[in-house]
Amino acid sequence: MVSSDRGKAIVATVLALGASSVVSGCKDPVQTRYEPSDAAKSRGLVAIEKTGCGSCHEIPGVEWPRGRLGPSLAGFDDVGLIAGKLPNRPGLLAAFIRNAPAIKPGSTMPPMPVTDAEAQDVASYLYGLDSD
Ligand code: HEC
Repeated sequence: MVSSDRGKAIVATVLALGASSVVSGCKDPVQTRYEPSDAAKSRGLVAIEKTGCGSCHEIPGVEWPRGRLGPSLAGFDDVGLIAGKLPNRPGLLAAFIRNAPAIKPGSTMPPMPVTDAEAQDVASYLYGLDSD
């Protein structure tokens, strides 16, 4: 029964990791939740304003423009699926922001002129938008 003992050890490790992330103050162990740094968030806001995401999206912190062609991005860290299709993870969100149709074929959001680093900062800003 060596293999089942090993299985138990793995389960115990996973449980311990889950418990430690609760203790360290993460919102929860779910991968869609993470706490971006303030520096990344402010760079993200600059990129959002430069790129004009607000012409199609309502985004808290962006006063103008406040377009309605795309969905509101308020409380984005609570969104389960990006554009109803993709698991809401930092890497996928950044990739979607850069080139939505490449990640979600048929998406009506056009590719955006941001660098990969800017897209990651924008993702950080969006994850920083708590709905509560
Ligand atoms: C020309 C209009 C337009 C612009 C500009 C635009 N978007 Fe979008 N965006 C959309 C549309 C339309 C959708 C819905 C796409 C879909 O469902 O495939 C969308 C979807 C999204 C989503 C997924 C929303 C959800 O609720 O799942 C995110 C995140 C997003 N956009 C971020 C951005 C960011 C960040 C920028 C600026 C870099 C930006 N968008 C610029 C039109 C736009």
